[in-house]
Amino acid sequence: MSRDKSSRRTDAGQQAVDVSEAQIAVHWPEEGYFSPSASFIAQANLTDADVFERFSLDRFPECFKEFADLLDWYKYWDTTFDASNPPFWRWFVGGRINACYNCVDRHLANYRNKTAIHFVPESEDEAVQHITYQELHVRVNEFAALLRDFCGLKAGDRVTLHMPMVAELPITMLACARLGVIHSQVFSGFSGAACADRILDSESRLLITMDGYWRSGKLIDHKEKADIAFAEAASKGHTAEKVLVWQRYPGRYSSPTKLVEGRDVIVNDVLRSFRGSRVEPVQMPSEAPLFLMYSSGTTGRPKGCQHSTGGYLAYVAWTSKNIQDIHPGDVYWCMADIGWITGHSYIVYGPLAVAASTVVYEGVPVYPDAGRPWRIAEDLGVNIFHTSPTAIRALRRSGPDEPAKYHYHFKHMTTVGEPIEPEVWKWYHQSVGKGEAVIVDTWWQTETGGFLCSTVPALHPMKPGSAGPGIPGIHPVIYDDDGNELASGSGKAGNICIRNPWPGAFQTIWKAPDRYVKTYYARYCRDPQSKDWRDWPYMAGDGALEAADGYFRILGRIDDVINVAGHRLGTKEIESAALLVPDVAEAAVVPVADEIKGKVPELYVSLKPGVEPTPEIAHKVSEAVVARIGAIARPHQVIIVPDMPKTRSGKIMRRVLAAISSHQDPGDVSTLANPEIVDSIRELNR
Ligand code: WTA
Repeated sequence: MSRDKSSRRTDAGQQAVDVSEAQIAVHWPEEGYFSPSASFIAQANLTDADVFERFSLDRFPECFKEFADLLDWYKYWDTTFDASNPPFWRWFVGGRINACYNCVDRHLANYRNKTAIHFVPESEDEAVQHITYQELHVRVNEFAALLRDFCGLKAGDRVTLHMPMVAELPITMLACARLGVIHSQVFSGFSGAACADRILDSESRLLITMDGYWRSGKLIDHKEKADIAFAEAASKGHTAEKVLVWQRYPGRYSSPTKLVEGRDVIVNDVLRSFRGSRVEPVQMPSEAPLFLMYSSGTTGRPKGCQHSTGGYLAYVAWTSKNIQDIHPGDVYWCMADIGWITGHSYIVYGPLAVAASTVVYEGVPVYPDAGRPWRIAEDLGVNIFHTSPTAIRALRRSGPDEPAKYHYHFKHMTTVGEPIEPEVWKWYHQSVGKGEAVIVDTWWQTETGGFLCSTVPALHPMKPGSAGPGIPGIHPVIYDDDGNELASGSGKAGNICIRNPWPGAFQTIWKAPDRYVKTYYARYCRDPQSKDWRDWPYMAGDGALEAADGYFRILGRIDDVINVAGHRLGTKEIESAALLVPDVAEAAVVPVADEIKGKVPELYVSLKPGVEPTPEIAHKVSEAVVARIGAIARPHQVIIVPDMPKTRSGKIMRRVLAAISSHQDPGDVSTLANPEIVDSIRELNR
């Protein structure tokens, strides 16, 4: 554990009881600056300090034309920004565009034989595949033809993908985009049940999966999850037409799970009849949805964040070029999973839109040892690297001296997904970046499509632990609970919001427009009747504070979301899963600090009258959570308690449980309906 974190905990223990994490973090000292190297600046895409002037608030919205001009349009838009129905903003209205064309076809003229995707299998005995833009074009076209002519898909249809980290995943996404079909990729580590909810909510016509994939040296049976997903979605009211199964090894079926006749289709077999097929990209309205990405929120149901085609692609292209500093000659590796928004925006759409070579790595970072990422970097000549604090902490713990053994050189590195402790940042900078690489700490969300806060790498100094100012065109502000602005340097934390709309923002929550307005815009809206975007700040749901230099430090979620290893899990989802065990009467989940993952869920359950607590029940609860959501949600502990601490009105006091879990003083509990329970729970969690 880094020093900052442990000292944070001790401080907290000594302070008054309800000191929130936000307030504690405010007591961290500000770190000093680090400067980008002259050699980085000399080659950077964005070195023109006028950019902040160009993107000042009074240039909104026309400034974003610069983003859209990075793309090829079939028809140029007539309205840059349409605010007629707030907060359902529309960007580049009237424009026609195809995302697949922009990520593939348009690069053929100059980069036909350049690698678009390096697919790195987990096993070091299996050859890396270097897929050129030409080959990507062929494969995407053939699969698009299959989707259109064999499956009958058309623009606007939805399909659910539940695919691992293989080249076939971006190929599938791009084939959908070519047809205007809306893809919804579910993280492969999620369970079949979690996949079912997403098939159901999106009313997907197909489920596209793969038979198996490698994880920590094991060939996982992935097809098994497709059967669960299909059956559960069907039982809840939506039956997909087919299950398309890619083979991890073409020509060979690698799963012990049987195929279901009439429903399951081996993609690699059917593809043979589409050899040589070409499909004209469909000229989609800028506003047409490109994909859905489900994310956890405050209530149990995951939200289908709907992203647009033109605005989204413009946003990820511009930020890939200018914040990630990607040039067509770079080899770029983002170690995230494509099942999360980071992978969509910064493995697939952004890097391919700017003609990069992007790395897709199948396995876990520390397989077979902690030197693996650095061998990959050395072998492929990776010069831009992108990962999360969780992965950095894991690599630092298991192989602090590994990076020095390999001859790679990163010019640029990214961290994303959760706050990074300054100690960990410094190891990343010194050891992984060899003191040469510039670092951007990018703060953003599934909803926002792309980066919101980050330093511009050649223009701003870096400050460990701080994301930085808003990127050009993004104007953040911090409000207190009453809607007052908290000035920079005030030392006070509040709710971080964005004053202005931006092209990468999601369009709505799929089939839940009211929830969209309520969750993100209602809290600080100045006038619900107003058609002026200035009255509709976007509320991100994170606590943050702004230092005197205008850098934002993100403190974490203000809602019921636990950020595990940089991924959002809804507390309600976890608690509902625990209640699937018939013996359980009540469940409450709280986050506890974890050295590697940042936070992990800890679960308290009480049992139905007459049921004796046993380790088996605790085990069943844990398994139920994994089956329902996936291994990522596995509770650190399941603690069976005689009763939950409750208010007199019967509300479970999660705050008290959280204090017990992190061995802090729960404070004055005399107002609880059952104050005596606190000590007995503390006994159970020593
Ligand atoms: C957190 C991931 C601190 C934050 C792109 C946000 C961060 C949530 C950072 C979104 C960062 C993301 N520093 N916290 N650089 N980046 N977060 O939707 O709480 O999976 O609201 O998107 O992660 O998670 P999501």
